[in-house]
Amino acid sequence: MTQTTKMDIASAWEKVEYKDVSSYTTSPVPVVWQEAFHAVFRRLVLTRIGRWLGGTRPRKVVDLACGTGEWTLGFLPLADFVVGVDVNPSFVEKARRAAQAERDGGRAEFLRMNLLDFDGYEGVDLVCLGACVQCLADAEVDRLFATLAARLPPDGRLYLRTTVASPIYGAYRGRRGFFYRPRADYERRFARLGWKVDDRFPSVAVPPAKAVEDFLKVPGPVATVLSSPLWGPIYGKHALLRQGEAYNWLIRTTQVH
Ligand SMILES: C[S@@+](CC[C@H](N)C(=O)[O-])C[C@H]1O[C@@H](n2cnc3c(N)ncnc32)[C@H](O)[C@@H]1O
Repeated sequence: MTQTTKMDIASAWEKVEYKDVSSYTTSPVPVVWQEAFHAVFRRLVLTRIGRWLGGTRPRKVVDLACGTGEWTLGFLPLADFVVGVDVNPSFVEKARRAAQAERDGGRAEFLRMNLLDFDGYEGVDLVCLGACVQCLADAEVDRLFATLAARLPPDGRLYLRTTVASPIYGAYRGRRGFFYRPRADYERRFARLGWKVDDRFPSVAVPPAKAVEDFLKVPGPVATVLSSPLWGPIYGKHALLRQGEAYNWLIRTTQVH
């Protein structure tokens, strides 16, 4: 696999002008569906993260490659302070405006920079890496993980979500030059660093049927399709065509000493 440097993919991201959710997704699904699905998916995963945290409250959550900040702001009820970092100025601008509109938005900060240059890990207990490690070459993933291992406190936490390559196809370069790696590739990196996976699940296993009441607020056909038993096969076929699936890990960055 040809490896690019951080300049290639990050500088392409930097130039994207925010229009709607399709500005930062590669999904062929209509925008209204994506927005509805993302909002529900986010709520379900954040609830799961809240359970994972048990009684503990992170002082600071850093959301690297935060896009337009929906996940970053979603962490506000769980943490004292949240920081979103993204290389794209129009995404960061939208995230800042969204924070201003939030009651607790004063506890959120958004920085426009390359996540590989971010150094504000003081007081950070939880890092979120949502749909972004596929934008990084192998050496960059290694460098980022090494930084997290060194800078997070003992028992620091990491929520990682990325599209993984089907083990049948193996690693491949997707649209926009993204790096899709098999699940085992990431899990070998966690093991090397002594990180402990507390929970792992494919995105498709966060069952939409559990949130039927949310879908019912969305215009007709969306509710019907997402809350029907057809959703699984439709989403599964979509994942298969993309040669992979979105996968999630809740990790303790506990180090082996
Ligand atoms: C698919 S979006 C994910 C947005 C959000 N994290 C989510 O889960 O919905 C990928 C984001 O990564 C950002 N990005 C890619 N490479 C980056 C880098 N090296 N540094 C900072 N941001 C980066 C892009 O600008 C984009 O907002």
